[in-house]
Amino acid sequence: MKMKSRIDWLQILLQCQKNVNTQIRSYLKTENQLQPDLGRGAGGDQMKPVDLAAEKAIVDVLLQHIVSFTLISEESGVKEFGDDPTKFYVTVDPIDGTTNFVHGIPFYASSIALSTRPSLSAVFAGLVSDLFHDKTYFALEGKGAHCDGERIRPSSSKSLDKAVVGLDLNSFKVEEYSFELTHLIQKINHIRHFGANALELCYVADGTTDAFIDIREKLRTTDIAAAFLIVKEAGGTITTPSGSPLEAKLDPKQTISFIASGNTQVHQNILSLVKA
Ligand code: IPD
Ligand code: CA
Repeated sequence: MKMKSRIDWLQILLQCQKNVNTQIRSYLKTENQLQPDLGRGAGGDQMKPVDLAAEKAIVDVLLQHIVSFTLISEESGVKEFGDDPTKFYVTVDPIDGTTNFVHGIPFYASSIALSTRPSLSAVFAGLVSDLFHDKTYFALEGKGAHCDGERIRPSSSKSLDKAVVGLDLNSFKVEEYSFELTHLIQKINHIRHFGANALELCYVADGTTDAFIDIREKLRTTDIAAAFLIVKEAGGTITTPSGSPLEAKLDPKQTISFIASGNTQVHQNILSLVKA
């Protein structure tokens, strides 16, 4: 059993988040000027200067506190630090919602997850920081989920017609999966997608929305590693689209599909409509 206690993870991750906030300021959109592309990151998307600045801000702080770890980042890929890099795995999406950030849309986040193995089920701490609104979601395995220090809980509403449901339809291959969603879409009156899936999962965790669905098999595990724990620790449900437990390798190239809901009843309703 690897050691994961006796380190104040919350303080370390909060320092990472503070540094990200400071370092990204100079990249905020000022005029009608978009940031240049810097080529593709490890996750396959175009990197922007702000993505690299945020990643550096996180790594700089981590190196001040933990000497050995493996970084699993959407931008730089997998990098080992120190003599014992398999001690901790730090999975980061330095900026989730880069498109929002560069367009000046106030919805983007930074996500950091800690685990003892490079797999989703081994995540024991997760932080997602809403960088525009300066709100921080944090969960520690077995200790619940919190936003700015306050315990959060998901929605207990069971009704789908009143539900606000996040649905990521961003894909060139929309015709391949939209069929599976038709019955669900017909039952929901309030569909949303804000453009930063880690943060949208935190909205399920704190009951802002009732569910969030991404069945594109396109989202990387680096994007949801922290939010996965936050949803679970808040008391929400997150599974594969067929209702199985969610498990995957933490890797910038590993993609995943999932359904997250505030409670098991609404989750079952959604699963039955997605399968129908
Ligand atoms: C993106 C956001 C977006 C989702 C994309 C992701 P990124 O994350 O989460 O909502 O539709 O698939 O790539 O690229 O800004 O980290
Ligand atoms: Ca990103």
